[in-house]
Amino acid sequence: MCGIVGYVGTDQSVEVLLGGLRRLEYRGYDSAGIAVIDPLGRLGTRKRAGKLQVLIDDLEANPLANGATGIGHTRWATHGGPNDENAHPHLGDEGRLALIHNGIIENFAELKAELLLRHPATVFTSETDSEVAALLVGLEYQKTHDLSLALRTVVGRLNGAFTLLVLHKDQPGVVVGARRNSPLVIGLGDGENFLGSDVAAFIEHTHRAMEIGQDQVVTITPDSVTVTDFAGRPVETREFQVEWDASASEKGGWSSFMAKEISEEPVAVANTLIGRIVDGAVHLPELDTLGAGVLEGLDRIVLIGCGTAAYSAMLGKYAIEKWAKIPVDVELSHEFRYRDPVVSERTLVVSISQSGETMDTLMAVKYARELGARTLSICNTQGSTIPRESDAVVYTHAGPEVAVASTKAFVAQVAAIYLFALRVAEVRGTLAASEIASLLGELGAVPDQLAWVLEQQDSIKQLAGWMTDTRSVIFLGRHAGYPIALEGALKLKEVAYIHSEGFAAGELKHGPIALIEPGQPVFVIVPSPRAKDSLHKKVVSNIQEIRARGARILAIAEEGDVAVLPYADTVIRIPLASTLFEPLLAVVPLHIFAMELASAKGLDVDQPRNLAKSVTVE
Ligand code: M6R
Repeated sequence: MCGIVGYVGTDQSVEVLLGGLRRLEYRGYDSAGIAVIDPLGRLGTRKRAGKLQVLIDDLEANPLANGATGIGHTRWATHGGPNDENAHPHLGDEGRLALIHNGIIENFAELKAELLLRHPATVFTSETDSEVAALLVGLEYQKTHDLSLALRTVVGRLNGAFTLLVLHKDQPGVVVGARRNSPLVIGLGDGENFLGSDVAAFIEHTHRAMEIGQDQVVTITPDSVTVTDFAGRPVETREFQVEWDASASEKGGWSSFMAKEISEEPVAVANTLIGRIVDGAVHLPELDTLGAGVLEGLDRIVLIGCGTAAYSAMLGKYAIEKWAKIPVDVELSHEFRYRDPVVSERTLVVSISQSGETMDTLMAVKYARELGARTLSICNTQGSTIPRESDAVVYTHAGPEVAVASTKAFVAQVAAIYLFALRVAEVRGTLAASEIASLLGELGAVPDQLAWVLEQQDSIKQLAGWMTDTRSVIFLGRHAGYPIALEGALKLKEVAYIHSEGFAAGELKHGPIALIEPGQPVFVIVPSPRAKDSLHKKVVSNIQEIRARGARILAIAEEGDVAVLPYADTVIRIPLASTLFEPLLAVVPLHIFAMELASAKGLDVDQPRNLAKSVTVE
């Protein structure tokens, strides 16, 4: 939540900051602002409520003097509503210092009271916790005129999660940042340097990046980068090359990032598999950092995540238990963190996160480590925090996901967790090599099958167009179709603002069937009739039960399944696939449906109301 960018370099700060904010806007879009030190040493700021475009229009109408040093912020409101006053930057040292903040300062009320006691004339211009930090850093700066020391002194007193960037008009060419439990990465340029909430902030300018650890402070000038801990001691840093290219985070010719990212679902899976299937076996050397013998010695796996990532975790449970025969629990990260889970050194906690920054998941990972568990991260974002806090990481290679609704990251996560499940099965000898090779063959076929499903976009768009007045949609699935029902419902709520619920089809008769009335649309994910279980028959019976009560059936069924035809109003076809691979295909029509329905209602599918891409507060 909140996007942050800092820059020192040429006299083009305004353009660099706005470019960075444009790429970071998915992190929050309640308001935006920038602060720039111009060549005459003046500090100019501009901030506006609303989307970034409001700020850009304002700057076009009334330009700010450009300069070589600047900071920029796009906000997801926590303390104080989304108005001009609460937008960042906030000022300290009587307007000479500007500060931006991502996170929550939990003890801000105490700090504010103390500040007012010491300086009763202090005027607060906003309701934010961030302004208190700006004023405190300003007071510290007045004592020493050392911006890094001032920030270090203040962050030592803050509780909660934060990334802070500050600049001072008397220190042109310097931006100082600090972080705790909130993201910040450094971009290394030639005669210019950058800070950003993630690499998207500076990817247009450089692919060289550097991680900043927990409780560290960074000072950038055009020619130097200095990182210390909060006590001012130098720390070791790690440089890395950003693999994404700038065009990957551009909309290109697509109507929305969500449309583009759905179209990238096949390539997201293909790229996640590349190099990881070798001679019919799984190649995941990344798991080695878990330690020798760890996979062999596990007695339990806990999969954690939030939202869409939690649904990919549910599929992971089915795969790991079926193939590797280890008991698996799936938990929402925030539930895991705040109860007393029983874990031991023989438990592996696997976190799944596209952003690698979700605070609930990060805190759960840290907690799991404190309890003695080993931790693995399945993550899509290089340089993010959760992988750094984990014993091992398997990256998904979905490329940057910008739309708030997660789509391509989901299929990439499932592909990665299936690879992991098969690797564990290999190590523990629960599947024969030939069975593993055959399952890997099926996984390898998924990208082409996804491309086949995408060809049905037009008919799904037509269906969505007919349903713009719909007020409620139900999604049903059994077994591996159940997480897909949940995912379909989440996507529809999130982007189309339609009340929707996903249920396990077997649960219908235990209550939800009371919701069925004539005309109620129900999506049903129909299992394959070829599977050696009786699930298909059971789901067809469920369809008949709700159809008898007037439901309008929208079935997602495999090619050639004729049993659904007499009962379905609409059938969306997916290619033949076995039970655990079918969900990867069935989810695509639901992603398309949510997007097309939201678009038909004239909604902004990339930036749905009240949401932000990365949930970096608990
Ligand atoms: O970055 P993460 O994968 O950790 O994010 C988890 C959820 O916040 C995320 O999946 C969210 O539910 C999406 N907006 C769903 O489309």
